[in-house]
Amino acid sequence: MIWMKLISDPQEMTQTVLADKRARKTVGCVPTMGALHDGHLSLIRAARRDCDLVVVTIFVNPTQFGPAEDLDDYPRSIEEDLAACEREGTDYVFAPSDDAMYPKGAATWVTVEGVTEGLCGASRPGHFRGVTTVVAKLFNIVQPDKAYFGEKDYQQLTAIRNMAVDLNFPVEIVPMPIVREPDGLAISSRNKYLSAEERRDALALQRSLELARTRLADGERSAHVVVAKMRALIDEASSARIDYVAVVDAETLEPVERIEGTVLVAVAVYIGSTRLIDNTVVTV
Ligand code: PAJ
Repeated sequence: MIWMKLISDPQEMTQTVLADKRARKTVGCVPTMGALHDGHLSLIRAARRDCDLVVVTIFVNPTQFGPAEDLDDYPRSIEEDLAACEREGTDYVFAPSDDAMYPKGAATWVTVEGVTEGLCGASRPGHFRGVTTVVAKLFNIVQPDKAYFGEKDYQQLTAIRNMAVDLNFPVEIVPMPIVREPDGLAISSRNKYLSAEERRDALALQRSLELARTRLADGERSAHVVVAKMRALIDEASSARIDYVAVVDAETLEPVERIEGTVLVAVAVYIGSTRLIDNTVVTV
């Protein structure tokens, strides 16, 4: 298709996609908050490859930001985002207003228990409730056959996967690998906030994960020891302040003591005032 349609009304989005589905088109959805970068584009490309129609959603979801978080400052670049979506062969961009998504009186939430309680859930109360609620709404509006999410936000991916199973959403959740800058920093819309010095310090996240992988390959099995080594490495960066460094079961996200099977090694670190996350999945 050589045209792309921008839709802001949820009902129009649903009617449009239902007409396509009646014509037996498969629909791939890529939920985003805009400020699109190569990480997002990798998801759009996968959807383009797998599905007849690609819907990219762009919505800076207010309910997943805490009161002291960066909702107002969150980068917005709708013109560039639309151009990027068009270049990647997107069929529809769904970009609703806050009022269209949360009309006055909206009071229904989707909460996934368990996997949302540790890691980022501990330092961002209400965050995952906002994420799963908006993604449930997007699934109902867009009716995708497949939806694409990055492993960069591993806990988010896990919560959404569990939500789709628990609530019988007829959608396949497709996980996509973390896209990194050439020097290893995981690409994030929030990297824009970093000064030159902070940008260098931000490499500590990825380096700590590499250190964990090396220690595990050398036979270390104590999560405590691995975490201590990682923390020491991150603490060397002067602008870094650790939120958490954790080794958890890759499915339940429960902390592990002795490392066996498949684990998620995950970090969240403030670099200056910017909170960055990164992770790696290791099977021993
Ligand atoms: P956003 O941060 O815009 O991310 C949209 C999608 O892009 C998510 O699935 C995220 O994991 C993925 N992504 C971001 N950076 C990535 C990278 N470096 N490599 C691979 N994938 C990457 O995540 C959200 O928006 C929101 O919480 C959302 C799911 C849209 C709900 O509001």
